[in-house]
Amino acid sequence: MNGKYKAFWLDENGFVEVIDQTKLPFIEETVVLESADDAIVAIKDMIVRGAGVIGNIGALGVYLAVKENQDLKYIVKKSKEIRESRPTAVNLMWAVDIMLEAILNENENLLEVAKNAAIKICDEDSQRSSLIAKHGCDIFENIMKEKGKTTINVLTHCNAGWLAIVDDGSALAPIYEAKRRGIDVHVYVDETRPRNQGANLTAWELGKDNVNHTIIPDNTGGYLMQQGLVDVCIVGADRVSVNGDVANKIGTYLKALASYDNNIPFYVAIPEGTLDFNIKDGVKDIPIETRSEDEVKYIKGLNKEGVVEELLIMPKNSKAVNYGFDITPARLVTGLITEKGLCEANEVSICNKFAK
Ligand code: MRU
Repeated sequence: MNGKYKAFWLDENGFVEVIDQTKLPFIEETVVLESADDAIVAIKDMIVRGAGVIGNIGALGVYLAVKENQDLKYIVKKSKEIRESRPTAVNLMWAVDIMLEAILNENENLLEVAKNAAIKICDEDSQRSSLIAKHGCDIFENIMKEKGKTTINVLTHCNAGWLAIVDDGSALAPIYEAKRRGIDVHVYVDETRPRNQGANLTAWELGKDNVNHTIIPDNTGGYLMQQGLVDVCIVGADRVSVNGDVANKIGTYLKALASYDNNIPFYVAIPEGTLDFNIKDGVKDIPIETRSEDEVKYIKGLNKEGVVEELLIMPKNSKAVNYGFDITPARLVTGLITEKGLCEANEVSICNKFAK
């Protein structure tokens, strides 16, 4: 991994240290994961999150299982638990399966095999992120050329930066590349209720790199698009089925609809591990995580005394529902920005580019 910032790393004892994303942007703290169970808790409780990083921590979680106990039954059992720790981001299943294949094909030096396999997954994701940055930024430059503009206004939803995918992210990678190329880029950041990954994480990341950005309530994007204030939308994804349907953070679908209605390109940036070749119809078959209603009912923030607090924001007895993701049908997706370049959101293009 070569990025300027990292969401996780191996410490001097061979354990996995991660930035605690539940505390950002108010407190910058790390947590050390010493066992497969620690990795499972970190994924479930969203201490780490974002499809790519969930996959990376899944892989490193399998390595931690091997570090604890080299009995194959134990490793397979823990791998299964890790694989099931969150349901929608397919990078998790993808990475755990690669780990198991590497481990089960060896008889000796299992710890080294597992460590090397996990590091390889992370390093390759980092290379994918750099390529997505370049391909995505070329697209931004074309949009600017076509419109005769010297600035570009980008709208993004949730967080698909380096906290979510090593090293530049997926959706944010072309934005960081634009900054490196000296392009005048401004980002509208959807706050992304209920967990506010946009306001808490994307804004924090962009601020660290001095990228000009404005946080908007989730309902604002459509109006901005009607007013000609958005040139392009770009989001990441947790799973893309082989027909090009996109599972991403809840609310993505509404942004895609508004983009379509306003003739604004809607791109989805993904590395290979986000593709699911087993699902033919994403709208019907991609599993959508449902999370606790308390994530909707309570909101976390810094009070006037500078203390982080959680507040109830609705009648205590009202019910709430909390779907983590929604599905944007392929027909609303202008294109998939991948490490192999731009790919149409359909089975023929996906299979041509990523033929096994
Ligand atoms: O629930 P999260 O925070 O793990 O979800 C992550 C997302 O859905 C992001 O929108 C992202 O685009 C996909 S991860 C690169």
